[in-house]
Amino acid sequence: MKNAAIILAGGEGTRMHSSKPKVMAEILFRPMIDRVLDAAKGAGVTDVCVITGYKAEILEQHLEGRAVCVHQAERLGTGHAVMQAIPFIENNHFDNVLILNGDAPFIDSDTIREALSYHLTRGFVQTVISARIENPFGYGRIIRDTNGDFTAIVEEASADKETKKINEINSGAMWFAADALVELLAKVTNDNSKGEYYLTDTVGIAVREKRPVGAYTAKNADAVLGANNRVQLMELNEKLRQKVLRQHMLAGVSIPCADGVIIDADAVIGADTVILPGTIIKAGCEIGENCVIGPNTVLYKTKVGSNVTLNSVQAEEAEISDHANLGPFVHLRPNAKIGEHVHCGNFVEIKNSVIGAHTAVSHLTYVGDSDVGKGVNFGCGVVTVNFNGKTKNRCTVGDDAFIGCNTNLIAPVKVGDRAYTAAGSTITHDVPDDSLAIARSRQEVKENWVIKKKPYREKKY
Ligand code: UD1
Ligand code: CA
Repeated sequence: MKNAAIILAGGEGTRMHSSKPKVMAEILFRPMIDRVLDAAKGAGVTDVCVITGYKAEILEQHLEGRAVCVHQAERLGTGHAVMQAIPFIENNHFDNVLILNGDAPFIDSDTIREALSYHLTRGFVQTVISARIENPFGYGRIIRDTNGDFTAIVEEASADKETKKINEINSGAMWFAADALVELLAKVTNDNSKGEYYLTDTVGIAVREKRPVGAYTAKNADAVLGANNRVQLMELNEKLRQKVLRQHMLAGVSIPCADGVIIDADAVIGADTVILPGTIIKAGCEIGENCVIGPNTVLYKTKVGSNVTLNSVQAEEAEISDHANLGPFVHLRPNAKIGEHVHCGNFVEIKNSVIGAHTAVSHLTYVGDSDVGKGVNFGCGVVTVNFNGKTKNRCTVGDDAFIGCNTNLIAPVKVGDRAYTAAGSTITHDVPDDSLAIARSRQEVKENWVIKKKPYREKKY
């Protein structure tokens, strides 16, 4: 059996007031379109066609070939959108076609799979995924006859008072037998108050032709929720945010106060780790056990070991080993690798560098493009001068070295094991192991200079 999915994503999303296609709006850091695409692929539907329209180039670029894109030049309704995919359906000889709305991000693979088996076992030509929800306003209503048989979908704009009371709604997701879809679409007209070709009219047409159709009620009622404006977007975000936080808490993560805590759905966090307010854990993060993360910490594509403390840390594409204690106010940039028991804090930035175990970088220091050994102490205000205006170069600091306060290490340069640099030095040449480098002018004292020169104005106090 060869099945395909068509994701409707052409809409401008006027109510979003955005310069991007509506389906690019994010729920927990992921565009809605990606969530819908993953649900289809997770259900085993690997041939996917996305109908683009408004700002199609943004969507096409974002999809990076993960789906066939078909452009709908004019937005004349959901039925018209699916019509654009008829060549895709016919040329590939699919058996069943799944239609998904790109703006309903909670559709899940289980619901899609269950609806397909419902569709196939009953031999329906069309199976709409429906749900009962508290507030059906804005959705198409599922109409059933006195026997409970599904007979039509009536859109909000065409619904009378009684129909508006129905709270079983069309999710927008539906399975079709491929040949029936093409035949039914040919009969859809735009004879309604909006002058649009409604995909939902296919139900009434099929029923009139006595073709078997059904509505599969999703067990996961959230699967049908859509976002048409940014208030609904926030509501969907909040729903998923709370769900993810609950999963982590039930798995042993403490979140004593969830204010400003946003965790990506795929984050892995070990037991006994505490997440404090204002912490945002974005995609691609793994955190070990017994850590304290936050307050005010942002992690992206970062691996954190166990027993780590991160207080007001921003890290992207970094690695932090066990027992590291970072913060307050540390910025780890891509490819910063922090060893075990390292301490960094008070306005320290580390980029593309390896920091060996037990090293301390405690205050006002920049370490970039450097290989730092174990047990090194960085005084306050050290700068690795890694960029000469043209090229980036590396610094190497050996084990147990001591870098005096306000040292500039002019890359490329190497400080040996156990070597010292005097405070205020500008190190331009390698420092051998066990040596002290002093690279600053010798202090000169001019005695009684002030009395002779009287450089100050008269005292005012
Ligand atoms: C649609 C359904 C409604 C259902 C609801 C579920 C129709 C007529 N109505 O209403 O029954 O309850 O979804 O969320 O199908 N799109 C295009 N091209 C177009 C028009 C729309 O690609 O010409 C896309 C949109 O980008 C969107 C999807 O189709 O992703 C649904 O369109 P939208 O206008 O949001 O439909 P609803 O009014 O929500
Ligand atoms: Ca919608």
